[in-house]
Amino acid sequence: MTDPIGDPRPLTAGVMGWPIVHSRSPRIFAHWFAAAGIEGRYCHLAVCEADFEQVFRTLPRAGFRGVNVTVPHKLSALRCADSATDTARQIGAANMIRFTPDGEIIADNTDAYGFIENIRQGAPDWNPASGPAVVLGAGGAARAVLVALRDAGAPQIRLINRTSVKADDLAAELGDPISVIPWQERSSALADAATLVNTSSLGMTGQPKLEIALDDLPETALINDIVYTPLRTDLLAAGRARGNPTVDGLGMLLHQARPSYRAWFGGDPLVDETLRQVCLA
Ligand code: ATR
Repeated sequence: MTDPIGDPRPLTAGVMGWPIVHSRSPRIFAHWFAAAGIEGRYCHLAVCEADFEQVFRTLPRAGFRGVNVTVPHKLSALRCADSATDTARQIGAANMIRFTPDGEIIADNTDAYGFIENIRQGAPDWNPASGPAVVLGAGGAARAVLVALRDAGAPQIRLINRTSVKADDLAAELGDPISVIPWQERSSALADAATLVNTSSLGMTGQPKLEIALDDLPETALINDIVYTPLRTDLLAAGRARGNPTVDGLGMLLHQARPSYRAWFGGDPLVDETLRQVCLA
């Protein structure tokens, strides 16, 4: 079979995590392999923390072109790589690894890209520079969202987290234009915002509800929830009911996979309704 980018290695990659069996990434790649007419392989790699480094270093010799890494390996992957992109360093975590043909390990992060591309596709008129952004949550996912919003030109980012010290640490690490607002003030912090993003796990199936009043949020503000189980969270439903543009979180997962596919296999895979349905099936 002809390799689209002239690489003699097998068309092989995977996603490493613990647990990993529920990851939908293999479905995404299988769909793109079929669309491109190539016989690629993208597998689940269930690797616990203790085994991470050893397995990670073995994969280039096992013929892998690259690997996606997810919880709990995103920090370790950055630490163990030979080099890292500026984006991965700024976010402080890696989710996409390239193995060069001579075995070098390069760490990258495509979560910020996935976050922005998802919103641009779902709400083409969104202008992140037009006003403050409010970000709920200061966990792993928030890091990429904050870097993405800052790089997209948000003039102010209001970071709000239940555990304020985590928000303080993140704001100190990432710097301007992030400022921390107390969790109890999350509803009033929505005044004059252009963007509202929930990166917390609140509203996810099996988790507590996200309690927030949207009254102060301008109706033009874009609302994005990175939670995608359920696809239409209460936050998105409440926003849509009052006329706000809303974008669900599934597209972030789909778009963050595109740079991996491009780097490892070439071509330009599509994120469309068919892929969404494949993922939701
Ligand atoms: P992820 O990698 O998906 O961001 P995480 O790092 O575990 O996951 O972060 C979960 C986020 O949801 C955190 O911001 C967490 O707040 P704390 O830092 O205070 O733990 C937030 N979160 C989870 N449960 C919450 C709850 N019941 N109320 C408020 N925030 C909650």
